[in-house]
Amino acid sequence: MNEKLLQHLRTYQQEHLLAFWHELDEVQQAKLVSQIESIDLERITELYRLGASGKSLSIDPCNANPPSAVRLGDGDRQESEAERVGSEALAAGTVAVALVAGGQGSRLGFDHPKGMYPIGPISGDSLFDILLGKVVATGQIFDAQIPVYLMTSPATDEETRRYLEESQYFGMPSEDVKLFCQGTFPAVDAVTGELLLATKGELFLSPDGHGGMLAALARSGALEDMQQRGIKHLFYFQVDNPLATVCDPGLIGHHILASSEYTLQVVAKQQPEDKVGNVVELEGKTRIIEYSDLPEEAANLRNDDGSLKLWAGSIAVHIFDVDFLCRMAESENSLPVHVARKKVPFVDVDGHQRDPEQPNAIKFEQFIFDLLPYAAEAITVEVDPARAFAPLKNGPGSATDTAEHVQQQLMHYHRCMLREAGVRVDDAIQVEINPRCAMTPEMLKSKIPRETEITKDTYFH
Ligand code: UTP
Repeated sequence: MNEKLLQHLRTYQQEHLLAFWHELDEVQQAKLVSQIESIDLERITELYRLGASGKSLSIDPCNANPPSAVRLGDGDRQESEAERVGSEALAAGTVAVALVAGGQGSRLGFDHPKGMYPIGPISGDSLFDILLGKVVATGQIFDAQIPVYLMTSPATDEETRRYLEESQYFGMPSEDVKLFCQGTFPAVDAVTGELLLATKGELFLSPDGHGGMLAALARSGALEDMQQRGIKHLFYFQVDNPLATVCDPGLIGHHILASSEYTLQVVAKQQPEDKVGNVVELEGKTRIIEYSDLPEEAANLRNDDGSLKLWAGSIAVHIFDVDFLCRMAESENSLPVHVARKKVPFVDVDGHQRDPEQPNAIKFEQFIFDLLPYAAEAITVEVDPARAFAPLKNGPGSATDTAEHVQQQLMHYHRCMLREAGVRVDDAIQVEINPRCAMTPEMLKSKIPRETEITKDTYFH
């Protein structure tokens, strides 16, 4: 028995972690020791204490105002100027992409990393294929190198690496796809604060949230790599949204024109209770208040014309200035830790595997948008959700955000693109456009003659 470790664990009432020590072989013992040693038990104890007390939000959402925003229909001149500036930045090679793909995708119930999900409605192409395809296509349009910094977690890292390598990075130069792995947090018993064991010789660990990206970018050398490559702006999006307007020149242009350090793409909420993060202005700072933290009273506030006062819903597409991320990475503990009660399977004191039916544990997570209040300048830019947002979250049969919903949205948008390009297509016809074929209606125009009629299901690739 490792007496020193036992003593350390006793200080924090966590000695149960060694309860099965004598049943483990040397390799398992070494693994357990290294897991325990990597955890700051003092911090976890404190986080549990704060989490169990139910205190999380220290601001009053009822005083929130809408954020400073570029709204749809604000003017064509402003839009084309933004596109021009964004296009210049892309052509100059000062834009890179951050794609976060470390989540466990537990709601979807897919046995592989979510990025491997075959979402293409006709092609069956995976999320990674479609999203990296958009980067490849943008690189070709602007004759530019656009590196992708792709975040995995211990849960998704190995399989993602193998899959991307086997797929030859979907046409990206391999040196421009930089995988980096986020950290983890242990989970604790919600009643006792004891760390949970996944097996007799392993702690239960889960990814530390998309906010883990900041520390992971710094730790992996990715921030340094960006600086060396002269990258100034980082286009951030999540692996579960195949409609994401990856590297949208207009969004990048607005970010640059406003000297913003942190820009959010947002959609106008349809209902007060929409399940998106609410982007608001509070105490002079832009912030996101999660839907679960927004009281009904604040969510229901209306303007004189009947529209929602807190209208801006985040779709998790952001642009960060690299200098801003570097500054934040240097300031320790800049991101708060959120707690959530969840069902976590564990090994109990008698060595039995337990699969609870009710939330039994507290999990910890960091959110990347908690960087927002630190930005010297932050703006939001509205986008039409029909062309930018189709998140894959839930398994078949759920009311929203299933693969079927996402595929319908993709095909709907692709039909709109075809019609804008002067092509005739009926709603009953299934269509899918590979981003490498066309990213915009303008690009389609050069490939398909006007007035063409699509009469059967078609995959444009
Ligand atoms: P979600 O919060 O929707 O989580 O992540 P999820 O893992 O996809 O699904 P559930 O909640 O387990 O069902 C939104 C995005 O953030 C990434 C995910 O990969 C997804 O792209 N993410 C989330 C991370 O990269 N790391 C995390 O720790 C959490």
